[in-house]
Amino acid sequence: MMHFTEKRDIVTIKDLDFVIYLSAREIENRIREIAVTIAQDYEDKNPLFLVILNGAFVFAADLMRSLDFACDVQFIKASSYKGLSSTGKVTFSSVEELKLAGRHVIVIEDIVDSGLTLHSFMPTLMDYKPLTLEVCTLLDKPEARVFEVGPKYVAFSISDHFVIGYGLDFDGAGRNLPHIYQLIPQNY
Ligand code: XMP
Ligand code: MG
Repeated sequence: MMHFTEKRDIVTIKDLDFVIYLSAREIENRIREIAVTIAQDYEDKNPLFLVILNGAFVFAADLMRSLDFACDVQFIKASSYKGLSSTGKVTFSSVEELKLAGRHVIVIEDIVDSGLTLHSFMPTLMDYKPLTLEVCTLLDKPEARVFEVGPKYVAFSISDHFVIGYGLDFDGAGRNLPHIYQLIPQNY
């Protein structure tokens, strides 16, 4: 189902070709930079990272391990995206188990696309009375925005093309790729 060509810079999943776009090294370097900024803002605040599953799990793991101050993590599962485009509907599981009251909360996202996920979710989170609430996303596609949401921390701002790898999937495949790959446009 998924195979690497000899060059290893193209992967093919279900007949779609993806080309390497952001290397593991580039991602690692950028996370180190973001971690410095987050440290400046949150070092003494024991922040709570709220990781949106599934896509953000790899980013969250690397980001948190590059922070050397006290912090905490909770997880929530969002389902919104099927195939290559949004279904226009987002559902969250186990929201009622969140414990955000009085905490400095940083939502960790894999990618902000139309903004629908955050637009649906942020007001719900506010009901749980966090002290502060911000968003940190690995990827941002500003050109695709439909709902006005502004993530405070963005690792990479990218063009509006479908990407996979480093936690992001196409139909459940590709999450384990160490690099981020972009769909080759002629496949549309
Ligand atoms: P919205 O439109 O709600 O999208 O801002 C956020 C969610 O949609 C998924 N998404 C993608 N997943 N490659 C993916 O693998 C992409 O290019 C992509 N664009 C959006 C993702 O789950 C994100 O949390
Ligand atoms: Mg996905």
